[in-house]
Amino acid sequence: MATTISVLRERADGESRVAATPETVKKFTALGAKVVIESGAGLAASIADADYQATGAEIRSEGVVNGADIVLGVQGPEGDLLAGANPGAWIVASLDPFTRRDRVDAYAAAGFEALAMEFMPRITRAQSMDILSSQSNLAGYKAVIEAAGAYGRAFPMMMTAAGTISAARVFVMGVGVAGLQAIATARRLGAQVSATDVRSATKEQIQSLGAKPIFVESVAGIEGEGAGGYATEMSAEYQQAQAELVSSHIAKQDIVITTALIPGRAAPRLVTDAQIASMKPGSVIFDLAVAQGGNVEGSVPDQVVVKHGVKIIGFSNTPTHLAADASALFSRNLYNFLSAFWDKEQGKPVLDEEIGNAIRLTQGGQVVNPRLLG
Ligand code: NAI
Repeated sequence: MATTISVLRERADGESRVAATPETVKKFTALGAKVVIESGAGLAASIADADYQATGAEIRSEGVVNGADIVLGVQGPEGDLLAGANPGAWIVASLDPFTRRDRVDAYAAAGFEALAMEFMPRITRAQSMDILSSQSNLAGYKAVIEAAGAYGRAFPMMMTAAGTISAARVFVMGVGVAGLQAIATARRLGAQVSATDVRSATKEQIQSLGAKPIFVESVAGIEGEGAGGYATEMSAEYQQAQAELVSSHIAKQDIVITTALIPGRAAPRLVTDAQIASMKPGSVIFDLAVAQGGNVEGSVPDQVVVKHGVKIIGFSNTPTHLAADASALFSRNLYNFLSAFWDKEQGKPVLDEEIGNAIRLTQGGQVVNPRLLG
C-alpha cells in the first residue's frame, strides 16, 4: 500500500498558508506516495483544487485524513480533525508545543507521532528543512514593505526639480534571518540602514549588506551566542549599555524594525515608551516579535498603535501576509524533510536519531521530547 499523505485546510484565524503545493504534490507522487488534499486548502494561497488535481492529488471534502499515514499542516491541527488517520500516523507541522501543549497531549493520547518542524536542528544538512528560516526571511521582507507603506515619506533619496527628498533612516534590531532580509530590503528601497544584535558575529554580515553596525563596545567579552547559533540572555551590565546606545541612535531614525527573539523565552524588550517619545512624529516601528510578547513597549498584534505620533505595527503571523510564497517555501521544507528520509524499500520515510529525536514530540502514546518533559 502506498503511503498516504493528507493535507488539511488550515483552521486558525488569519492563516492563509497551505502545507503542500502542486509542485510538492508532484514530487511526493513521484516518490510513490498518494496525496489527499482537503477541498479549498490552497485557495487563500492562490492555489485552486484543480491545480492540485492536475499534479495527481485526490481532493476530498470529507474524511480527508481517512487512512492517512502522514498529515501535513502549517499549524498543528485540532485533535478532532485527525479522526480516521492510521494508528501511529505522523502529524508534521509547526506545532507550537509550548503554547499548545493541550494539542500535543491529544496527539499522544490518540497514538500519533507528532513531529514539530520548528524543532529542526540547525545543522547544515537540515537547512533546506528549516521552516523558521524560510518563513523568517519572508517576514523580514514584509516588515519593511509594511513599514514603508505606513510611512508618509519616501525611502530613497530623490533629487527633483521641486527639491531634494532625503533618504529614510532605517534601524534593524536583531540580525538573524529576518533581520538580514529586512536590511537587504530596506537597502534595495534606497534607505540608509543601520543594525544591531547581541551576537557579535553579525557585525560583518551587517557591513557586507551595506549597512552600519551599531554595537555595544564598552562591555568586553560578550559574544551573545549560545547553542545552535541562537542568542543568549545578556548580563544586566550589557543590557544597560545597549539601552543607552540605542536611545541616542533611535531618536534619529525614521523606521525601526525589531526582530529579536530568544528561544523558549519571551521576546526581549528593546524599545521603551521613552525611546518612542524621542522619535520624530511620523516615524514607524514594525515589531516582528509582537506575537512573542513584543520587542516594543505598547505594540499590539494586528493593530496600528500610534504613540507620541509614532506608528507601531506588528502582525501576529507575518508570513501569512505573503501566503503564496510562504506556502511554496514551507511546503518545500516539508518535502525536503520527508524525501531526505524516504526509504525506497519500505515506501515511507524512516527518521534517523539526530533529527528524529529533536523534532519528535509524541510516540507510543507518550510525550517523549526532552524539551517538553522539563
Ligand atoms: P532568532 O529569530 O532567534 O532571533 C533574531 C535575532 O535577534 C538573532 O540574531 C538574535 O541574536 C537577536 N537578538 C536576540 N536578543 C537580542 C537583543 N537583546 N538585542 C538585539 N538582538 C537580539 O534568530 P534566527 O533568525 O533564527 O537566527 C539565529 C542564528 O541561527 C543566526 O546565526 C542564523 O544564521 C543561524 N541559522 C542557522 C541555520 C542552520 O545552520 N541550519 C538555519 C537558520 C539560522
